[in-house]
Amino acid sequence: MKKVIITITGAAGNIAYSLIFRILSGNIFPADIKIQINLLDIAESLPILKGVKYEIEDCAFPNLDNIITTDDPGLAFTDSDYILLVGAKPRFKGMQRADLLLDNANIFQKQAKIINECVDKNTKIIVVGNPANTNALIVQYFASNIPSDNITSLMKLDQNRAKSILGNKLNKSVTEVSQLVVWGNHSATQFPDLNHANVSNSNEAILSLDADWVNDVFIPRVQKRGAEIIQHRGKSSAASAASAIYDHLNILINGSNDWESMGIMRDNTYGISNEIFFSFPLKISNSNISIINELAISDESMKYIKDTEKELLTERDIIKDILKN
Ligand code: NAD
Ligand code: LMR
Repeated sequence: MKKVIITITGAAGNIAYSLIFRILSGNIFPADIKIQINLLDIAESLPILKGVKYEIEDCAFPNLDNIITTDDPGLAFTDSDYILLVGAKPRFKGMQRADLLLDNANIFQKQAKIINECVDKNTKIIVVGNPANTNALIVQYFASNIPSDNITSLMKLDQNRAKSILGNKLNKSVTEVSQLVVWGNHSATQFPDLNHANVSNSNEAILSLDADWVNDVFIPRVQKRGAEIIQHRGKSSAASAASAIYDHLNILINGSNDWESMGIMRDNTYGISNEIFFSFPLKISNSNISIINELAISDESMKYIKDTEKELLTERDIIKDILKN
């Protein structure tokens, strides 16, 4: 029997409560592959994890191999094929994601050191806990045995939001929208870029958009959608985040015909630092992520791209002392 091991941290939290069930009921893996799911949370949350485990069992998922619930990161990470680093504090109304940096950095530093000891170098790590791009940098630094190409941060939620907001505006299905990517940080400086996007394989509908709508509605709405959800729900996005993590994992494993967005740390032709996790336009096939380099970028777009890079460099500077430990 073939099996994969997927570890989810923060498994007693809000995102995990959707994510676990999306993964186990989804079709990322062929039917003959069984899934072992390792659920990690802190000791205080173990009673909740027991309830989550019982609920998973009650779903009678045909592809479920085994469930491990634990507060021991070593046990959770050992032999994992995929590690989804979700466990971290979320922000509340009025906060920026970067306000979480110092609180959450500690979690990612400790877990990365353990990952470095007990995980194979082919393990793929997806960083979700905020601020996701800079937490990915912490993981990359402390889990140096894992090639940085195997570490990505979640930007798919932003890309999905951008596609949906555009689709609603044009009264088109998201399936007709392609090549719509999000550059930079998972934050209010991110740049959802319509300049290369197509609707039904043509840029005609995009060119017909009013520039005021693009600049004053579309871009800020995507940038601040997370805060808008918190405003209404009182807590941060969970089901949509889980859905985006599912998409991200699926694309990493099964590839995509469209352009994608993920935070990665790479050389590139856009003059963006290769010392931060930055979201670029990407092609992904056979688990190989490549940047779509040398796109024509207008001065106006480059200003957005540089602003979001600047924010990530500032976040990197804030954690410089942590990276010395
Ligand atoms: P939550 O508070 O509901 O759950 C977080 C869980 O993590 C809790 O169960 C907590 O006990 C656990 N946890 C804390 N420290 C831990 C540790 N050291 N090891 C293991 N588990 C630990 O939060 P949530 O809504 O599930 O969100 C989780 C994170 O994801 C937050 O940082 C949130 O901001 C972020 N997020 C990111 C995106 C994105 O697109 N990148 C989207 C949504 C949310
Ligand atoms: C989101 O974009 O919904 C998440 O990053 C949660 C948040 O803090 O906005």
